[in-house]
Amino acid sequence: MPYLYFLIKETLVSIYNVYLFSMPQTMLQSATQLFTDNWKIYQKIINQNYMLHRSLQQKAILLSRLKSLEPLSVLDLGCGDAQLISEQLTGFEVDYYTGYDLSATALALASKNLESKSIAYELCQGAMEMLLDTTTSSFDIIHSSFAIHHLGDSGKKTLLKKCFQKLSPGGLFIIIDVFRDAVSLETYKRDYISRIRSHWNYLPDSEKDMVVDHILRYDYPADISIFKLWAKEAGFTVATATVKDSFHKMLLLRKEAN
Ligand SMILES: C[S@@+](CC[C@H](N)C(=O)[O-])C[C@H]1O[C@@H](n2cnc3c(N)ncnc32)[C@H](O)[C@@H]1O
Repeated sequence: MPYLYFLIKETLVSIYNVYLFSMPQTMLQSATQLFTDNWKIYQKIINQNYMLHRSLQQKAILLSRLKSLEPLSVLDLGCGDAQLISEQLTGFEVDYYTGYDLSATALALASKNLESKSIAYELCQGAMEMLLDTTTSSFDIIHSSFAIHHLGDSGKKTLLKKCFQKLSPGGLFIIIDVFRDAVSLETYKRDYISRIRSHWNYLPDSEKDMVVDHILRYDYPADISIFKLWAKEAGFTVATATVKDSFHKMLLLRKEAN
């Protein structure tokens, strides 16, 4: 265990060095290190519902609108291991699922999860904002859960525009993510970290430290009101699904049918 801790610490130090001295693409890859090397920590967070994954995904699948779009062609941005979405999609007729993620480790797990649910799929490794330029397909549903907050402001705006182009008329962009609610990034991070320290008690302190480290270096949640404005500018009709939580939210963006 001490050796494992040493290894993790060394990895974090090297991540920090890469973060300081490299180009943006490498920065993005470092930002995913917590998930690639330590997917088990993330699974614990999901299982304990600390980030409201289950509650928010549950709300998403209850959307009656989804049924009208069947058979669904789904694009999942920053799909990770696709565990939850593959479970949720079993209630629908799915034509095809496409997942984008930077992490090869996550995609290997995604492959197993999708196969176990017999969902036809394609997984692409790379930056979602770049991969969107490589596809000629259009999608009924674009879904992204806890990935967009890793992008900077201009990256988020560009991603919204690209998603609008790739969504079929009448389609839905479902975003589940952390957002700021009229507070500075500094205040958001202070409050979120304080919540981890006091409430995420299923994680030992060493794992809490790793999550906190990741948040401090790589998380840039947008202010929800500003993000909604960007979405409108991109062409979407915006509806927010209300959740009693100041950090974790679901946003529904519609591309109206002509
Ligand atoms: C917090 S995990 C969420 C995984 C999954 N969507 C979920 O909710 O369980 C964030 C995922 O986004 C991926 N990611 C972060 N930035 C990305 C980017 N620019 N392009 C593609 N994937 C990215 C990470 O590799 C990681 O798998």
